[in-house]
Amino acid sequence: MTRSAQLTRGIERRLVSSTRPALAKILIGDPTDAVCANVFVGRGHEVDKKPGLSKEELLQVIGEYDGLVVRSGVQVDKDVIEAGKNLRIVGRAGTGVDNIDVQAATSKGVLVMNTPGGNTASTAELAMTHILALARNIPSAVASMKAGRWDRKKYMGTELMGKTVGVIGLGRIGREVAAWCTNFGMTAIGYDPILTDAAARASGIEPVPLEEIFKRSDFITLHTPLTQETRNLISKANLAKCRKGVRIVNCARGPIVNPADLLEALESGQVAGASLDVYPSEPPPAELEPLIQHPHVICTPHLGASTTDAQVRVARDIASQMCDVLDGGEFVGV
Ligand code: NAD
Ligand code: MLT
Repeated sequence: MTRSAQLTRGIERRLVSSTRPALAKILIGDPTDAVCANVFVGRGHEVDKKPGLSKEELLQVIGEYDGLVVRSGVQVDKDVIEAGKNLRIVGRAGTGVDNIDVQAATSKGVLVMNTPGGNTASTAELAMTHILALARNIPSAVASMKAGRWDRKKYMGTELMGKTVGVIGLGRIGREVAAWCTNFGMTAIGYDPILTDAAARASGIEPVPLEEIFKRSDFITLHTPLTQETRNLISKANLAKCRKGVRIVNCARGPIVNPADLLEALESGQVAGASLDVYPSEPPPAELEPLIQHPHVICTPHLGASTTDAQVRVARDIASQMCDVLDGGEFVGV
């Protein structure tokens, strides 16, 4: 039997042997919309909401629970999985599962689920907001006026119309951002090692090799997961291949951008501006202050999914998906 078949059998065994009449006990470990707990309770499960637990506190209590719901705050590492003696399922009310040790979970037969698509529109809209704010220096201009100045000449911007946006990662969010950009009259070029060229073209995106993204783009927007290939993708070497005055937007994952290399490129003028929603660690450590304070950097505190619409959607979806598993039904989002 292959390893993946063994793992699948392991998961099946746990689910079948645990489809007991008694209620499942669920821990909600990060702040989620109230609908999350309501769905679990409505389907007969017991819920404890304990956002903000330290790792030690989580390790002490996790053994009591069959299911754990998180956003990006709780780190579900190997220790948590090991301590979760009754744990059958971990649900991420969001997209990225990089705060969950999926390998450790899978080898213990613990199912990991997310809610792909639940926050796509919100994150794509935020990325588009970052692109527009960068093009027109909106945050600095607002701050300057609020400080009593009238700096009309200082904040000269650039139009989007006629410019080229390079989209790295043509999944749900990347394709939506590309669609917004083309509506603003931009040419969208994109790189994704998995999506077919035909699918990219059908979304109005010219598929190109990665090197061409660097060479041709006026704006580069990042929409990949964090993987070995994407970590440090925006590096000194790749920034040097870009057009002088390129603008970089990162609403995906912090470690995709090398912060020291980005700062150097901002200081030399190779990069005209950067707009960041995510950071190598969050909240960002003190050594990132020079980047965050740089006059040509816009930064938001990981707000991609922070709309009431997205939060209701992901909270409801993750609870329903987890209930489907716990109830022994068919399920999606693994
Ligand atoms: P998705 O899975 O739909 O799309 C990701 C795409 O990246 C896929 O098409 C995949 O083929 C592609 N990809 C993988 N490796 C690549 C590589 N080396 N180079 C180029 N492309 C590559 O995911 P999504 O829902 O579009 O989310 C994209 C990213 O945004 C994820 O990192 C996710 O965690 C992040 N995200 C951030 C926020 C936020 O709050 N800022 C909110 C939601 C999602
Ligand atoms: C995600 O991957 O879904 C985002 O980072 C948003 C969030 O953490 O809520």
